[in-house]
Amino acid sequence: MKLGVNIDHIAILREARKVNDPNLIEAVGICKIAGANQITIHLREDRRHIQDKDVKDIIMHSSLPVNLECSIDPEIIDIVCTLKPFRATLVPEHREELTTEGGLALSLNNEKLLNAIENLQNNEIEVSLFIEADIKTIKTAKKLGAEWVELHTGKYANIYAMLFSNLSHTPHSIKELELERKKLKKMLKKELNRIKKAAKFAKKLGLKVAAGHGLNYQNVKEIAKIKAIKELNIGQSIIARSIFRGLEQAIKEMKELL
Ligand code: PXP
Repeated sequence: MKLGVNIDHIAILREARKVNDPNLIEAVGICKIAGANQITIHLREDRRHIQDKDVKDIIMHSSLPVNLECSIDPEIIDIVCTLKPFRATLVPEHREELTTEGGLALSLNNEKLLNAIENLQNNEIEVSLFIEADIKTIKTAKKLGAEWVELHTGKYANIYAMLFSNLSHTPHSIKELELERKKLKKMLKKELNRIKKAAKFAKKLGLKVAAGHGLNYQNVKEIAKIKAIKELNIGQSIIARSIFRGLEQAIKEMKELL
């Protein structure tokens, strides 16, 4: 299983002071040494972390392919076409959100989306669509001509967190907690099966399949077992662990789980 390391959070720390520390190019070098297969970055419309110059510098200096997440806004797509990353992952974007919420709503009649895909592909940039693990949406992704789909694992990660979080201060009785756990276990199994089915279906259609969002050192194992998924894009949990263990070690520990 390939690992794309999302380094946006390193840029968040740098932007807190508007200095060049921590340095993203140094981070890219460490990702490579640690065994990452791809660098993933998100050029957000509000530029809260990655800046245009970062994308340019990272593409120039990275020996790993760069997967650039972006919205379908025509201005952003023009910039991405000029910067020429290896792949562009189209994601929904809302200014107030803390992070990408939900998958991209796909339609064969969305002019903005159609133009974005066409422009990127005309510039020889692979297109990936970040979508919910849903059969109908996958069929639309195929019809739109995308090379990749990235399946949203956020719901799976949220259920996992609810199931295994510390419940020691809840007012529930043991019996109520047991019932709650049973319910959550069922939900987790259902969500995992939905992702498995979607990944298999997308692969059968000839799409390359990635997945990501909310994956961490605990919940990643079940997702990593899904053979139809070629690649996982992980940010928050790796960068959080790197604060205590160092970036190289944090990536190595994640790679071991894949
Ligand atoms: N994949 C996509 C499309 C994303 O938008 C993000 C978050 O930027 C990730 C993967 C990584 O998610 P996380 O930081 O929760 O690991």
